[in-house]
Amino acid sequence: MSGARITAVGTTADVSATTEISAGTTIINGRGCALVPGFVDGHTHVVFAGDRRDELRRRLSGATYAEIAAAGGGILSTVRATRAASEAELAAQTSARLAEILAAGTTTCEAKSGYGLDTESECRMLRVIGALNDSQPVELAATFMGAHEVPPEYRGRQAEFVRLVIDEMIPAAAPLAEWCDVFCDRGFFTPDESIAILEAGTRAGMKPRIHADELAASGGPAVAERVGARSADHLVQVNAEGIAALARAGTVATLLPAAAFYLKLGRFAPARDLIAAGVPVALATDVNPGGGFSPSMPFVMMLGCFAMGLTFEEALVAATINGAYSLDRHDRVGSLEPGKQFDAVMVDGPAVNLLRANAQPIARVFKKGIQVHARG
Ligand code: NIG
Ligand code: FE
Repeated sequence: MSGARITAVGTTADVSATTEISAGTTIINGRGCALVPGFVDGHTHVVFAGDRRDELRRRLSGATYAEIAAAGGGILSTVRATRAASEAELAAQTSARLAEILAAGTTTCEAKSGYGLDTESECRMLRVIGALNDSQPVELAATFMGAHEVPPEYRGRQAEFVRLVIDEMIPAAAPLAEWCDVFCDRGFFTPDESIAILEAGTRAGMKPRIHADELAASGGPAVAERVGARSADHLVQVNAEGIAALARAGTVATLLPAAAFYLKLGRFAPARDLIAAGVPVALATDVNPGGGFSPSMPFVMMLGCFAMGLTFEEALVAATINGAYSLDRHDRVGSLEPGKQFDAVMVDGPAVNLLRANAQPIARVFKKGIQVHARG
């Protein structure tokens, strides 16, 4: 490679025959190692303040996501903490999480707002994402998600909150975000509200993606088809009609098995049915304070393989090039090909060693040609 880009790929003999290796070139001996593309994590709520690890313990004692939210936990408890945090505090906490994400091999990740739920706090989250994109190695794709939940001051006035999102938040957030997302699900935002918000986002220059069918088959895939969403995420409860809508639309199904696992949803998205219908499947971590307890794409790949029936190769594709496509970055990242960025993970032994939980098979991580992490 030269600079940040890959110039040739192949055996040592092939590459040396076609490529001039200039003096001063760094040669990394990867004998006995596998090199895979840096992971592309297309769904995270990595920016937040506060701590909800007690919810994990409550769930292990039998409480459900809905019961915890009704008791003052859930998204709204993170909203309280995030509104109270300064931009510097949010950046510091997020930066520590991004370091964990990078050590697990992720070189590009999406990051959402959605714990501010007022214009200023949503924009503060997006400014943190912009600043972190420039100050640490993981490349970030910013998503505005003002419609993540209805904040307490709008309880019982959901229609007015949707107007606030459309009339005030979207114009303010659009210069700071590439994507617009909505939690379209039972108890959150309806398909009609989601269409109105995502269409307003598109008019303001943000591309649509959607949280769909996590808690119930509630019309999210039809919304994705209608607005042309690049990705529909979660899909734990998606039915045949929903799968057909995603297939017609060419929407990526971004599956988040770590969320289903930690939330104890009792089932996982039907990855095999989605693939059989021709829907591209991506995997992502869903890092978040409530149920997104793992920063690790290899852990998500393990769940993809052992809980959702993916082959190792399908899981690797889902964690790399399909994730890149879900973020509209497939021309630059997600595979090791000439012309693309050298974003890569060096694994000790064969790549399937990524499925060895906690064995620490990731030796080095590279971003844009620079080694940005080495196992300690
Ligand atoms: O993707 N489903 C909605 N949002 C997050 C959860 C956010 C939270 O619990 O704080 C998710 O899982
Ligand atoms: Fe989410």
